Amino acid sequence: MTQTDDFERTPGGAVLMDGKRLRDEIVADLRAEIESLGNPTITLATVLVGSDKPSRIYVRNKRRKAEESGLVSRHVELDADCTQDDVESTVRVLVDDPTVHGILVQLPLPDGLDAERVLDLIPPEKDVDGLTERSMGRLVRGRPGLVPCTPLGVMRLLDRYGVPTSGKRAVVIGRSTLVGLPQVLLLGRKGVDATPTLAHSRTTDLAAQCREADIIVAAAGMAGLVTAEFVRPGAAVLDVGISRTESGIVGDVDFDGVEKVAGAITPMPGGTGPMTIGCLMQNTLLAARLQGVV
Ligand code: GUN
Repeated sequence: MTQTDDFERTPGGAVLMDGKRLRDEIVADLRAEIESLGNPTITLATVLVGSDKPSRIYVRNKRRKAEESGLVSRHVELDADCTQDDVESTVRVLVDDPTVHGILVQLPLPDGLDAERVLDLIPPEKDVDGLTERSMGRLVRGRPGLVPCTPLGVMRLLDRYGVPTSGKRAVVIGRSTLVGLPQVLLLGRKGVDATPTLAHSRTTDLAAQCREADIIVAAAGMAGLVTAEFVRPGAAVLDVGISRTESGIVGDVDFDGVEKVAGAITPMPGGTGPMTIGCLMQNTLLAARLQGVV
């Protein structure tokens, strides 16, 4: 990291990659952009199935930020005991409705419901989560499309906080389709030009692998996995993990230890989480563009 910026720093001197602040900038920019387009009606539809409390909170935040961004939020809720057909017909209605530009089905679905079959219904132009097979295929093939919001948020943080990526080594911990796999693709893209390693629960000597990295993205869902010993001095560390423990919600990174070694670090909460929502809003405007609406 360069020392020429005026970014907030942790007590140990690491740049604090403030996702809340960047999300707020994204929301304000989107609002201004939508206004400059003459306030077209761009609608994000959210689908929530069941009563999982964290999912309910995530969706509420997404709807709030959509409205703050100048988008229209449409919401559909289904009971946990609804059938696969109920979910699929709900999504089909949104797919067929030309006034809906983005569709987000909050995951996970309750036990017994097949998320893959639901996601398969969403066309790539409305897939603001970027999680469907076709959107993932576009990402792999380097074609224009919508990219999953959490790994996109990580890329925006690296960019905003001046973390160099070209020729740098990155370790992504976790191989989920939601984060780890698309993250590797984004880090290795032309123009970003990092050299990513995909690490996971079977990786031999994870700490040694991570110590080689200039950038660590921790997305394993294992509380406090990444300690100071994993981090090369000056490396950028981004925490995507989320675990519910007796002491509350914690990330994959031992913030207090790591901030003394890292060059840049995301807080938890307030790091990658808000960025997921900011990127969802940007994806919704992009979805409207892909549909030729704006
Ligand atoms: N559940 C946890 N993260 C996400 C996300 O980014 N999108 C959806 N749809 N569900 C999630």
